[in-house]
Amino acid sequence: MFAARRALTGALQTRAFSASARDLSKVTVLGAAGGIGQPLSLLLKLNPRVTELALYDIRGGPGVAADISHINTKSKVTGYDPTPSGLDSALKGAEIVLIPAGVPRKPGMTRDDLFNTNASIVRDLAKAAAESAPDANILVISNPVNSTVPIVAEIFKAKGVYNPKRLFGVTSLDVVRASRFVSEIKNTDPVDENITVVGGHSGVTIVPLFSQSSHPDLVGKADLLQRVQFGGDEVVKAKDGAGSATLSMAMAGARFAESLLKAAQGQKGVVEPTFVDSPLYKDQGIEFFASKVELGPSGVEKIMDVGKVDPQEQKLLDACLEDLKKNINKGVAFVAENP
Ligand code: NAD
Ligand code: LMR
Repeated sequence: MFAARRALTGALQTRAFSASARDLSKVTVLGAAGGIGQPLSLLLKLNPRVTELALYDIRGGPGVAADISHINTKSKVTGYDPTPSGLDSALKGAEIVLIPAGVPRKPGMTRDDLFNTNASIVRDLAKAAAESAPDANILVISNPVNSTVPIVAEIFKAKGVYNPKRLFGVTSLDVVRASRFVSEIKNTDPVDENITVVGGHSGVTIVPLFSQSSHPDLVGKADLLQRVQFGGDEVVKAKDGAGSATLSMAMAGARFAESLLKAAQGQKGVVEPTFVDSPLYKDQGIEFFASKVELGPSGVEKIMDVGKVDPQEQKLLDACLEDLKKNINKGVAFVAENP
């Protein structure tokens, strides 16, 4: 009788311990003092699921952290500089690592024009993450996402710690934009619009599937397609040399992090669009693809098929795959040549 009670108490204690351990969520932002990093860190500070926030940047991390730490929510905020142990301490114990470090576009540039600068920034941060947080969910925001995600994968593979279920290219902004643009045309509430966008995150690799929405009549609407594929350019042009989307991206990144935390804490049916190591087009030599992904405690739970598409959308997909393959191969080749 006592033995049975002791066993039950032990089981409850174990469960209580593992539940609270699971609910302790350290989130790290690399590039936290930047245009995206600051509002993203702010939104993460407002998220009660985040218990510890580590803000790292090559300059300004502690300043942003001091500012955000005065906000009266429970999470502990620490800023880190690039001292020898700064990056390691920022990463140790992280459940989620968001990477918005790198340079943004100026008018006239493509995302691929950022490759030469951002590839080595992301490679070096990936090396640090592979060493100090090999089990974390890595969320890559730095452009060009179609190439920077494969760079992270190659580094993790080289270090022997690659887990494809825990690497995500953040493409949520494309869906956020598509939903907003559609709602403007249809006079609907954008919160109710959920447009599927697949492929990658640049120009023609961004493929919205309006045939799968409640507005199939929008298939073939050229100006809407242009806005979804080149929405980033609208912002780059309007900012006129002062960078690219930061605030909407911060919202999209914070939403993705929140979805991962919800799924890690046991919520079922959490689905986000994201660019992941995907089986969908591997037979065509394409290792990564963005589609709807169900998230779970282990990261990627289930990768959804693209589903039935309209013939016009199929043409867009064909163009997407052609570009995507080159972008992915470029990232892989970069690490092979610059390990
Ligand atoms: P930004 O220049 O304002 O900020 C970048 C920050 O990164 C700076 O604070 C800089 O000090 C920091 N940084 C640079 N090298 C670093 C390193 N090695 N370690 C840590 N921090 C480092 O740029 P931004 O507007 O925040 O954009 C950042 C990146 O996000 C760009 O590459 C941009 O193209 C990309 N982006 C992606 C999406 C998306 O949908 N995935 C959307 C918008 C922007
Ligand atoms: C975006 O979609 O806004 C980002 O990828 C930034 C950019 O360069 O357009």
